[in-house]
Amino acid sequence: MTASDSATTPPAAPGLVAVTGAEGFIGSHLTEALVARGHRVRAMAQYNSFSSYGWLETLAPDVLDQVEIVLGDVRDPGSVQRLTQGAEAVYHLAALIAIPYSYQAPHSYVDTNVTGTLNVLEAVRQQEIPRLVHTSTSETYGTAQTVPITEDHPINTQSPYAASKAGGDRLADSYHASFGTPVVTLRPFNTFGPRQSMRAVIPTVIGQVAAGARTVTLGDLRPTRDFLYVGDTAQAFVAVGTAPAADVVGRTFNAGTGEEISIGELTRLIGKLMETDLDVREDPARIRPADSEVMRLVADASRLRAATGWAPRDDLETGLERAIAFFRDPANLARYKTGIYNI
Ligand SMILES: NC(=O)c1ccc[n+]([C@@H]2O[C@H](COP(=O)([O-])OP(=O)(O)OC[C@H]3O[C@@H](n4cnc5c(N)ncnc54)[C@H](O)[C@@H]3O)[C@@H](O)[C@H]2O)c1
Repeated sequence: MTASDSATTPPAAPGLVAVTGAEGFIGSHLTEALVARGHRVRAMAQYNSFSSYGWLETLAPDVLDQVEIVLGDVRDPGSVQRLTQGAEAVYHLAALIAIPYSYQAPHSYVDTNVTGTLNVLEAVRQQEIPRLVHTSTSETYGTAQTVPITEDHPINTQSPYAASKAGGDRLADSYHASFGTPVVTLRPFNTFGPRQSMRAVIPTVIGQVAAGARTVTLGDLRPTRDFLYVGDTAQAFVAVGTAPAADVVGRTFNAGTGEEISIGELTRLIGKLMETDLDVREDPARIRPADSEVMRLVADASRLRAATGWAPRDDLETGLERAIAFFRDPANLARYKTGIYNI
């Protein structure tokens, strides 16, 4: 194509994209965002004998019209090969993500987050798919050694979860270096919003209060996190999935707000927004081993902003108001178990 061709040829209409982990928290929001951009989405929900499609079941009918849901498993190479067939981009979000459960079941984290990622990389390589967005996590940095955290910050994996995610990241880098696989890695900081599971701190606090509790039990209140609203996380995925290859392929991008708040302060803020005088108790069962707890995470997302123009739209309070409205809806709250420690 000549320069004048590219100036006159309209951009191709958005085509078919494949998403792993589509039935989960971030994946369901990303599926909606991709459909809103005009894509058809082939969405993998993890195989289960209940034929449950997770949060995909709650999407609007006009969104679901554009979504082909397939049950599968990223640990199975054939399952992944069928998912990615004919896609113009693959968004790989499927993972085991709970840190406490990674203390109990580390083998399953390696199977899912390392071998599962390898299967996705192989499918993208063999089928010559033009773009793979691989999902990392801020947990791979461990407690911040310098702030804000840039992508050049050392990797220090303090939990089996973080180690398994970093393993997937290294495979992604190696496939780009060895085979030119067009992979871009997005590294979101803590994401929150409607549909998040109860194992995360914001749903834990909101869910307990929405269920009528005035005393909330939590783990360590001192760590700080950079909380990004899920709509902004989904837009970060879209940004790196659709940007010109020269700007993003072979690179890693943080997605975060640059603001940090401690878990204690966050809990007080939620109490204020929910107009509830909260009694906060530390539960020893929820305290992580000292060297495993990541004490501080705050993002420098300027690389992502420079490459794609992405910037977060919703501040913490706006996002919390939406999460509170979601968890206060009895139909939504009924899907959760607020009375137990969800790992
Ligand atoms: N939530 C956060 O704060 C956060 C922050 C940084 C990165 N991430 C990453 O974002 C991605 C999505 O996380 P989430 O918060 O939506 O969690 P989630 O648990 O809601 O979503 C993960 C999805 O992966 C699916 N899955 C697990 N094992 C699978 C398998 N073997 N085959 C197919 N599917 C499988 C699960 O069913 C689930 O729906 C993950 O890769 C996670 O590491 C999340």
